Amino acid sequence: MSHDHAIDLSVTWLGQTMPGCLYNASGVWCREEDELEVLLASDAAAVISKSATLAPRDGNPEPRYCRTAMGSINSMGLPNRGFDYYLDYARRYRYGSGKPLFLSLSGLSLDDNCAMLRRLAEEGLPAVPEINLSCPNVPGKPQLGYDFAATAEALGAFDAAYSGLYGVKLPPYFDPAHFAAMAEILNRHPRLAFVTCINSIGNGLVVDIDSEAVVIKPKDGLGGLGGDYVLPTALANVREFYRLLPGKDVVGCGGVKSGREAFMHILAGARAVQVGTCLYHEGPGAFARIAGELAALMRVKGYRRLDDFRGRLRTL
Ligand code: SIN
Repeated sequence: MSHDHAIDLSVTWLGQTMPGCLYNASGVWCREEDELEVLLASDAAAVISKSATLAPRDGNPEPRYCRTAMGSINSMGLPNRGFDYYLDYARRYRYGSGKPLFLSLSGLSLDDNCAMLRRLAEEGLPAVPEINLSCPNVPGKPQLGYDFAATAEALGAFDAAYSGLYGVKLPPYFDPAHFAAMAEILNRHPRLAFVTCINSIGNGLVVDIDSEAVVIKPKDGLGGLGGDYVLPTALANVREFYRLLPGKDVVGCGGVKSGREAFMHILAGARAVQVGTCLYHEGPGAFARIAGELAALMRVKGYRRLDDFRGRLRTL
């Protein structure tokens, strides 16, 4: 994928090799089939669909996304076409492109998540589920990943419902005790092949001085933060789970807007890197630009492959 031919950005994981290391964060550019197709035709190395619920949802009232000087705040509320729509797309997806398809699942209950996983298993498709344990934006539905007992129960149920490899999208954690407690739970599940770190930092509040008001309507202005705000938190989560989950992969997500942040995520241990806020603002051309910048940075540093520096973050 790189325009720098001596540099290899390919990634081998989940039993396949994908042509680069960058793809979209679920939620961005992936609700409609035509958006997914544009991603597939871009320099994204994989495609992930919008978090699906069993039934279609309109999501929260608008305005529900706001660009800010440091990134974004959103409270979308899981607007999506419903699981059947994404399953149908998965049936027709061009797996021969070499770009994996991930299906993000965000059932409103454990039963809903298991029902979607069972349907996916019945179809025997190569699409890989990324189960979202971390949506902060559905009023009355706390982020599952902050409830360790409920997460442990859910993972047991996922194992029973689905016989293939799967991943989970985690919320950010902020304390070493929580990294350790969550890792202990995740390590009980060999087919949990990857964790994606991080979802937005939930329930931030952006204030506009001129209007003396919040900037999004749902939840009186509370929403998930993305972009520059979240980079150090994302890196901490990638690095800690990289160290605590041997044999599993960590997908980095948070604050990637150039080759520099992608490099940081991989140095912290990320196998692959998702792009959210930057993709929202720039469009799918971001993938070629960021890949080119990453390749140029690797060339300057004398690295040819991502394995040359993945996880090799130095401490002082
Ligand atoms: C949303 O649709 O509210 C965003 C989903 C998420 O952050 O998990």
